Amino acid sequence: MTATTSDRSLEGRRAIVTGGAKSMGLHFARALAGAGAKVALGDVVDGEAAAADITTQSGLDCFYKHLDVSDERSAESFCTEVAERFGGIDILVNNPAIFASARLGPFADGTADEWNRMLAVNVTGSFLMAKYAVPAMSEGGFGRIVNIGSGTAHKGMPNMVAYVSSKAALLGFTRSLARELGDKGITVNTLGLGLIESDSIKDDEVHMSFTERVVASRSIHRSGHPDDPVGALLYLSSDASAFMTGQTLMVDGGSVNL
Ligand SMILES: NC(=O)c1ccc[n+]([C@@H]2O[C@H](COP(=O)([O-])OP(=O)(O)OC[C@H]3O[C@@H](n4cnc5c(N)ncnc54)[C@H](O)[C@@H]3O)[C@@H](O)[C@H]2O)c1
Repeated sequence: MTATTSDRSLEGRRAIVTGGAKSMGLHFARALAGAGAKVALGDVVDGEAAAADITTQSGLDCFYKHLDVSDERSAESFCTEVAERFGGIDILVNNPAIFASARLGPFADGTADEWNRMLAVNVTGSFLMAKYAVPAMSEGGFGRIVNIGSGTAHKGMPNMVAYVSSKAALLGFTRSLARELGDKGITVNTLGLGLIESDSIKDDEVHMSFTERVVASRSIHRSGHPDDPVGALLYLSSDASAFMTGQTLMVDGGSVNL
């Protein structure tokens, strides 16, 4: 399943996927377009070819624009361009993180710069994107903000303290923003992932060395595939989730029980 081709639940919707040029973000973007949404991809790496491919596959407008979510001016100009080109914004998927490229090691070997950069991308970036996307959502009286979380925020994980702390912060962000936006028709939820063999880590020996232990912790004893969270993403982006906000939906094979 590249995208749920029979699911047209997002027909006419306008979506942003940050960190959308590759790996899970690109997978999410393809799924949203497959369900009928126009999609804007924002990333620090080039996504021109990915956007062109989505346009060809879906027949819908999809474009890429350089975006550094940790830079306020970049977030603002990205959201302005999307709102102008698409005529509004309905869905924001806050997906990027310093993840595949993150240092794995004892917390005391980390630096304040490393810690601050992790929070700047993973947390401040989600805040800035919401800040500049929400006005366009409010105009339409509909909005779906999906923050991509991690099971590690619930279980804790050694040697990834900055990353895990940033994902835990996203949970507070989700709950508080949901309280603030509930009466505007805008929902805010976290889509929590367990280890998934995304393009960035499936050939990475260090990340893949966790697989056996992670699979053993699950109720469904197999590896996570990039398609696994697609159904939950489409649900959280659609009308069907209108009465659900401030929540975390875990797609991790039943490892974390919330
Ligand atoms: N793959 C997994 O096992 C897994 C598990 C739990 C949670 N997650 C979460 O899922 C999301 C995607 O994971 P992935 O495996 O695709 O990670 P990844 O590291 O492969 O991709 C991250 C993406 O974010 C982009 N990015 C980085 N900094 C950015 C910035 N400042 N502005 C805009 N874009 C930026 C990168 O270029 C890349 O496209 C992340 O939030 C990650 O924490 C992944």
